[in-house]
Amino acid sequence: MKDKSTHNKIFKGTINALFQRAAPFLDIRDNDVHVQISYEFAGRLLKCYPGADQEIVLPAIILHDIGWKTIPEEELFNSFGPKMKDNTNQRRHETEGAKMADDILSSLGFPRNKIDQITSIINGHDTRLEALSLNDQLVKDADKLWRFTPTGVDIDHKRFGIKRDEYVAYLDTVIEQWMFTPEAKEMAQEALNQVKEDVKGK
Ligand SMILES: [Fe+2]
Ligand SMILES: [Fe+2]
Repeated sequence: MKDKSTHNKIFKGTINALFQRAAPFLDIRDNDVHVQISYEFAGRLLKCYPGADQEIVLPAIILHDIGWKTIPEEELFNSFGPKMKDNTNQRRHETEGAKMADDILSSLGFPRNKIDQITSIINGHDTRLEALSLNDQLVKDADKLWRFTPTGVDIDHKRFGIKRDEYVAYLDTVIEQWMFTPEAKEMAQEALNQVKEDVKGK
């Protein structure tokens, strides 16, 4: 049996390996920036919920959007956001992403029961409105939290073609609806306040 610090060291190595394996699939749609920010939020949420499993939540957040790489580039920007025309590609990035994640996690020697939990979170992270578990809640919250950060707002309002102040006002109205945990609601509000402060400071 490995002691806790050895186990943590091995897990850290696995996280680095996952980022490396995900990188070639995250070079579109600013997904590399998104995943890094959401990974940090996932870490903060995990500190609030010791009953959640970091070995599910962190791999799921790193791999959740790799399926976008299978969507033709010219179709990408009609496939998400407030102006999305239909959700075929949104659904496809979940199903394809779950298969790709299964391959990556299997090749890294993840146990089957963990792979199944991670891929079922990925397979529905956007389209399934209810959460399957506490782990799923934290992934869903961390995924959306980046949208409230200065970086997320700057990227999103431009690609959605919505004026920055209008987009910020819209985000103010969706925190309750989007977030599962009270801590994520607080983090979203805190990040959005930072966005508003930045505008005032300019
Ligand atoms: Fe997604
Ligand atoms: Fe995402």
